[in-house]
Amino acid sequence: MDDCKIILNTGLRGVKIAQTRISDVDGNAGWLIYRGYLIQELASRATFEEVAYLLLFERLPSKSELENFTAELVREREIPPELIAALQTRPASAMAMDVLQAAISMLANHDPELPHVSQDGSVRTAIRLIAKTATLVAAWHRIRRGLDPVSPNPLLYHAANFLYMLNNEAPDSEIAHFLDVCLVLHAEHSFNASTFAAREVASTKAHMYAAVSAAIGSLSGELHGGANARVMDMLLKIGTTEAVESYVQTEFAAGRKIMGLGHAVYNVDDPRAFILAPMSKAMGEKIGDTRWYDISRLLENRAKAAFNQQKGMDIVVNVDFYSASLYYAMGIPIDLFTPVFAVSRVAGWVAHVIEEQYAGASAKPVLYRPESEYVGDYCGPETCSFTPIETRS
Ligand code: COA
Repeated sequence: MDDCKIILNTGLRGVKIAQTRISDVDGNAGWLIYRGYLIQELASRATFEEVAYLLLFERLPSKSELENFTAELVREREIPPELIAALQTRPASAMAMDVLQAAISMLANHDPELPHVSQDGSVRTAIRLIAKTATLVAAWHRIRRGLDPVSPNPLLYHAANFLYMLNNEAPDSEIAHFLDVCLVLHAEHSFNASTFAAREVASTKAHMYAAVSAAIGSLSGELHGGANARVMDMLLKIGTTEAVESYVQTEFAAGRKIMGLGHAVYNVDDPRAFILAPMSKAMGEKIGDTRWYDISRLLENRAKAAFNQQKGMDIVVNVDFYSASLYYAMGIPIDLFTPVFAVSRVAGWVAHVIEEQYAGASAKPVLYRPESEYVGDYCGPETCSFTPIETRS
């Protein structure tokens, strides 16, 4: 039909479509790096602010660079009052990811640098988006319960301030630290679905808000970021460790998936799960209830064994599996699990938008434009001709 050489590859598994300097995942070795640094090292030694800087500026900041960057994030935390007023018109039952996606688009109306953004300007917009996404999620949680949003606290770091804005009280330092680690772990993951969505939109030269709002739509799905909330629904449905075995048997017999298991890239367990699992256990111990961690641990073992028995191959645990019980023990509402993912991943998305539009790391045409194999009918002169509506049966 045409001269397209590309082999049909549904889902683009194993196809490299661009170059990036931002992160890399080795699905066989089970490692993840951001700008060359192993995720384990970043999770144990860097804050979310440092990681956001690393993603944006391609290197770790010096002390004074981090201070300036943090001050900039703090300055950008407030959201416009018109946006708060708009959120107040939304029904309380609105899905948080939908509200966030719409709010990000509306934020574009208040960016003084749009529509003509320079490369420097796009870094400033990126900082705005990282800062304000957290404020938006927290503000929506307050507004939907009929409460006023809590103004950001400039004395608190990003994760701690988010919890403060969510709950209107000084956060427990250990819980704030756990959230900070979660933000580091979720910040970036190469060409996952939402990042690809952001890059695809950015490739049209659309602005960063358009790209990030597309990414949020992609993240909301349960096969991507939405899985963390579905994992918690599943744990609540199981309810006890005694019920795990029968749940696994029933789900596998029905051909249904166990949420939080399986991955498009990892062939071994997700390295982030090894960090999240002990945090989930520790958080359970802190609140005197390790039930959700215990169910998760047993479920992981039983589901892996059942999968292997049924399909003769292994299934891996992914990032969403233990983050669910961890967030739940931290007191984060289930429907905010995926928005919290976005609070972190926005740092990766904006870095990718900048790379797509300015950094030139990618030896590819400017615009993503794949082809599809048409398998529908042909209605042309050789096949059929257009019938006027009056004579159609
Ligand atoms: N539970 C049970 N079986 C699963 C499974 C799961 N979580 N994930 C995949 N499988 C099975 C599929 O049913 C399929 O079986 P089949 O070949 O007999 O039809 C096989 O494994 C391959 O599944 P597929 O969906 O094609 O794998 P994928 O690599 O394209 O998909 C995911 C990866 C993440 C979409 C998939 O594993 C999934 O849906 N997981 C649950 C949702 C989730 O946790 N998402 C977050 C990802 S970070």
